[in-house]
Amino acid sequence: MTRNILAIVLIVLATNLTGQTRLVVKPNETIAEIQPTMYGIFFEDINFAADGGIYAELVKNRSFEFFEPMMGWLEPNSDRHSLNLKSGKATPIKRSSDEKNQHFIKVEVNDPNGYSIINEGFRGMGIKKDDTYNLTFMASQESGIKHVIFSLLAQDGSTIGADTVTVSGNNWKNYATSIKATKTCPKAKLKITFSESGTIDMDMISMFPEDTWKGRPKGLRKDLVQLLADMQPGFLRFPGGCIVEGRTLDRRYQWKKTVGPIDERENLVNRWNTEFTHRPTPDYYQSFGLGFFEYFQLAEDLGAQPLPILSCGMACQFNTGELVPLEELDPYVDDALDLIEFANGDPSTEWGKVRADMGHPEPFNLKYLGIGNEQWGPEYFARYKIFDKAIKEKYPDIVVVSGSGPFPDGEYFDYGWEQLKKLHAEIVDEHYYRPPQWFLDNATRYDEYDRSGPKVFAGEYAAQSVAIASPENKNNWDCALSEAAFITGMERNADLVVMTSYAPLFAHIDGWQWTPDLIWFDNLRSMGSANYYVQKMFSTNTGDDVVPIQLNGNDLTGQDGLYATASVKNSTNEIILKLVNASDSDKSLSFDFEGLKKFGKKVSVTTLTGTSPDDMNTLDNPREIYPEESILKTNGKELKLDIGAKSLVVVKLKK
Ligand code: AHR
Repeated sequence: MTRNILAIVLIVLATNLTGQTRLVVKPNETIAEIQPTMYGIFFEDINFAADGGIYAELVKNRSFEFFEPMMGWLEPNSDRHSLNLKSGKATPIKRSSDEKNQHFIKVEVNDPNGYSIINEGFRGMGIKKDDTYNLTFMASQESGIKHVIFSLLAQDGSTIGADTVTVSGNNWKNYATSIKATKTCPKAKLKITFSESGTIDMDMISMFPEDTWKGRPKGLRKDLVQLLADMQPGFLRFPGGCIVEGRTLDRRYQWKKTVGPIDERENLVNRWNTEFTHRPTPDYYQSFGLGFFEYFQLAEDLGAQPLPILSCGMACQFNTGELVPLEELDPYVDDALDLIEFANGDPSTEWGKVRADMGHPEPFNLKYLGIGNEQWGPEYFARYKIFDKAIKEKYPDIVVVSGSGPFPDGEYFDYGWEQLKKLHAEIVDEHYYRPPQWFLDNATRYDEYDRSGPKVFAGEYAAQSVAIASPENKNNWDCALSEAAFITGMERNADLVVMTSYAPLFAHIDGWQWTPDLIWFDNLRSMGSANYYVQKMFSTNTGDDVVPIQLNGNDLTGQDGLYATASVKNSTNEIILKLVNASDSDKSLSFDFEGLKKFGKKVSVTTLTGTSPDDMNTLDNPREIYPEESILKTNGKELKLDIGAKSLVVVKLKK
């Protein structure tokens, strides 16, 4: 109570006769350097982020490797369950167990006019009028069938593009064709029919839009990568999350199985497939078409530092918590060492050659490597120690990122930090999925952290409007604004907090398991959430040095609902202010720039705000919450600014 009264008195003192709150900025007093890695992104294959999302493959279960090999494939007139072949049938065939590509289908056709197989896509296929779709498949023709017809079907069953491929030869061959779509359809399907009766083996039936990110064949979805590029991220953490750990060790993410020819990448059930009973996704698998090579390439495209995370020999502790005995950890440690060689090694090395053969002889310049995701307890530190030692012995320049468990406080967290300090860890990953109020209350979280210990990576955070992992959580303005307030606290402590990323990144509107998420999409459209624009306003307006911005000699950490950070960007000679007004009332602010006689007369002001805490962007209304840019003309000596209630404002002025 007394503290509140004191705060009000101080604010009144700092408020001049015109009702303005006077803030003092000290552009010549650096308090921290902001690392280029400060604002990054965290990619996890959750919510159809990879298959069904950024990986632009349109055919689900293209190589028949799901537990049910025909999942995703419809056979309207199948004779699979009959002794007589009237129309036709497709039978999954299992190759010998040492083959990486385990299954193909044998298609027997009796009535070419009556039989078809149809792929339903990932909740349909997004097809755009006049765009070209590149189809590839492997086939071995046994008898009869000479022509395979591929048709794109719209939701009403009409054909919106088709092409016929001539097949020959009783041996596996690769075939390719292209289809130009005559209509746009968000939930199309791919139908396969045959001109003749007979038998044919088929595998790896794949279709990609030609128009991918950077036009790469079998590449990434352009609109989704563009949203990432627009953030100018400093790093890309991949491939998760819990997906790294697996529900069991057998189902952990193994990067070596995700590189090389795509038909040899062993598919794996996605751990989010059955994780939540409220959002079951039985058709969620990992084809690994987006594998470690592609992740590194994406990081390079984005100008972001790659930050791969590897299993430390512990399955997810929320699931089985299965452990590799310490004396059997070598293959896991080798995976880490080999990954560094894959990323950075000369093409003459074993793993450097794999990278070079995939088309990238130059190194990917890997600097950071995460060991474990959200592990806790002594078992983690025993394993982390072994990894750290082996990595540092061979690659002393690689920065090892360690974890502090799933929670931002409590027993696991405290124990984790204590151990990591003793182990002289370099960067510790912290995760916080908490209510919006927690974010508002924690803008000072890092003010008192020990500066002699490890640096901090805020690797996963997002305000939860209802509760952690609740399917009712929303990407609303209330949450986004609270995150903005919290980020000012991280930026102010940029000497300690060197990396930050919101989580999770992507969600398919029909295929998600976890909410809230930064970017939402369907098969054709995508949009940044309110939280996305908060992230983007921070990440694209980063200075080099943090400088003080104060009210009555104190940092702005929520007094009267105001949070702020100020920085200086040397290359553009700018002062950048990020102001968060989390209160219900508009604020009139005036600024004193200490030691600065004048500044550029044109001041850029970007505002992000909502009309209510529940406001959200949607695919139909993606700009409900969207940054608005304006230029404020000043006399170059005085800056006065009114900022609305519940808003984030970025101000840029030339020194
Ligand atoms: O972001 C979703 C999940 O939350 C991540 O996989 C995990 O690290 C955390 O528990």
